[in-house]
Amino acid sequence: MADDAPVLQAYGEVSPVRVGLGENARTRGVEMLNHVLAQTMALRDLYKKHHWQTSGENFYELHLLFDKHYTEQVDVTDALAERIQSLGGVAVAAGHDVIELSKIPRPPKGREGAVAQIERLLDAHEIVLEETRPLAREASELGDDGTNDLLVSQVIRTGEAQAWFIGEHLRKQIAK
Ligand SMILES: [Fe+2]
Repeated sequence: MADDAPVLQAYGEVSPVRVGLGENARTRGVEMLNHVLAQTMALRDLYKKHHWQTSGENFYELHLLFDKHYTEQVDVTDALAERIQSLGGVAVAAGHDVIELSKIPRPPKGREGAVAQIERLLDAHEIVLEETRPLAREASELGDDGTNDLLVSQVIRTGEAQAWFIGEHLRKQIAK
């Protein structure tokens, strides 16, 4: 039974890896990356929900755009999780653990309108960006340039670009 399988490494512990970073820096780096990973997974899943459930006059455009952003966020989550593992940590992975760690408000099970979907996504993007920027600076201070680069060049820049794309769409709807 899988339930009896021993846990090889507890969540929050780091195993020794030779990347030239001390245990304290890697422990904090893994903690920061897991925090950003959980927010990113919640944002990713919000995009798929909205891809499936969108409606209205811009259905096709939003259906495609939401899935494009979902796919880009999948790549970001993979980069975050694999960096956690490369620093000797354990990446958060299961949905119920993500809910526990995420600051992004849980959406309703039901279907929301297109404007509400975009507003919800913009709120989620802003949470990810506000949470990530100070951690990127902290990673730099810890000497962990790789984590700083990942947080800036993938999490922050992807998030800013996606917020622009969906935000402009909302502006178009309001102007009508
Ligand atoms: Fe699809």
